[in-house]
Amino acid sequence: MAMRCGFDIFVLLLFLCIIGVNSAIPPKIFDVVKYGAIADGKTDNTKAFVRAWKDACAYGGRSRVWIPKGTFMLGSVSFEGSCNGSMAFLIKGTLKASMDPRNMFTDTWIGFRYVNNLTVKGGGVLDGEGNVAWPYNDCRTNSQCKPLPATLRFDFITKSKVLNLRSINSKSTHFNIFACEDMEFSHVRLRAPANSPNTDGIHIGSSTNIKISHSIITTGDDCISMVSGSQNIEIYDVACGPGHGISIGSLGRSHDHEYVKGISVRNCSFIGSDNGVRIKTWSPSLYSVASNITFEDIVMQSPSNPIVIDQQYCPSSHCYLQGESSSAVQIKDVTFRNIWGISSTKVAVNLQCSGAMPCKNVKLINIDLGYNGPGGRATSMCSHVIGSSYGKQVPAGCL
Ligand SMILES: *[C@@H]1O[C@H](CO)[C@@H](O)[C@H](O)[C@H]1NC(C)=O
Ligand SMILES: *[C@@H]1O[C@H](CO)[C@@H](O)[C@H](O)[C@H]1NC(C)=O
Ligand SMILES: *[C@@H]1O[C@H](CO)[C@@H](O)[C@H](O)[C@H]1NC(C)=O
Ligand SMILES: *[C@@H]1O[C@H](CO)[C@@H](O)[C@H](O)[C@H]1NC(C)=O
Repeated sequence: MAMRCGFDIFVLLLFLCIIGVNSAIPPKIFDVVKYGAIADGKTDNTKAFVRAWKDACAYGGRSRVWIPKGTFMLGSVSFEGSCNGSMAFLIKGTLKASMDPRNMFTDTWIGFRYVNNLTVKGGGVLDGEGNVAWPYNDCRTNSQCKPLPATLRFDFITKSKVLNLRSINSKSTHFNIFACEDMEFSHVRLRAPANSPNTDGIHIGSSTNIKISHSIITTGDDCISMVSGSQNIEIYDVACGPGHGISIGSLGRSHDHEYVKGISVRNCSFIGSDNGVRIKTWSPSLYSVASNITFEDIVMQSPSNPIVIDQQYCPSSHCYLQGESSSAVQIKDVTFRNIWGISSTKVAVNLQCSGAMPCKNVKLINIDLGYNGPGGRATSMCSHVIGSSYGKQVPAGCL
């Protein structure tokens, strides 16, 4: 009996030992400098980075692609999986985008594709060098406008994290998320001038379970935008502005049965942004649904339009329908709760739903928005909205 017990304990200890040793294996470092990268800010390091990634990806354990301090110029590149172990991409230094036309007129600067268990972090900076490129992309002033690359593009990435990174002057979107699942973004700072064209902060489509928190976004387009196929998106502790706010849509432009659902935006602030929280759909549009959306505990520090539903969204000259909207996007189960602060225009709450498909179950709960400009207090405007209001309502509710 004693023998047996001793043997059992021996087996247990051996087992614990193996587990212990296993988790103690340090990650293997793949330093881009060892692969020939040169931090002089002008050598194109794309090949060195790709070689480092390939070796890291093939390694069976925990891999770390290491980018030390210094400025590394990097062309358009895609880091692809699937990989044999978990991957970390550690950016300590600054990555500088290329001005070469071959790298300028693509859709991606740095892409990650088909990777599970990826961490991108390190406190470094991604400098998109957008200032030179923006004039090519501004379709308002340039009829030959061309799309420009997103700084980071995540396609088919699962169970992954992006944290402690800065992106400045992206040529187009800072971070683009497509067909991803279970991703967390935190402690990121995204910055581009208020007048830079199409510089969305984080753009999400066809993705599920995405969390964005503890971040500061000051940019030229939407701070965060969620389009078709965005599901279970949680956004909290984010400061936005300048920028176009946190937006859902536009929906219904090119496909029918698009959807956005399960969106929670809480404890965020909007500082001098064009919009605060916004849902927009094209008009006219195809049948789509935006549902189960909550915006709560939001501070408005002088955005132009704090609370917006716009089913008549049509910024270009292609709009042929004026007046009554014919959007066929059903917006339902939307809650605006605990939203306070100052609006920089008089209409602080503006809910313009579709005449063909009115918004359903919209709730306004504890709204307290002031306006300090000429012409009196803040007002609200609603059309085609079915819903209810509770608690404080300043401006006086139109529900
Ligand atoms: C994973 O490891 C195997 C051998 O251990 C190798 O043949 C394969 O190429 C590796 N996969 C990748 C993506 O590198
Ligand atoms: C992801 O990586 C972490 C740390 O390297 C590891 O503990 C975990 O098992 C991995 N998860 C998956 C699903 O591969
Ligand atoms: C809300 O966000 C602020 C910073 O934006 C943070 O300091 C605070 O802890 C957050 N509060 C809650 C309840 O999460
Ligand atoms: C609504 O969305 C939240 C996430 O924001 C999710 O947890 C919840 O289950 C959803 N509710 C319904 C009824 O789908």
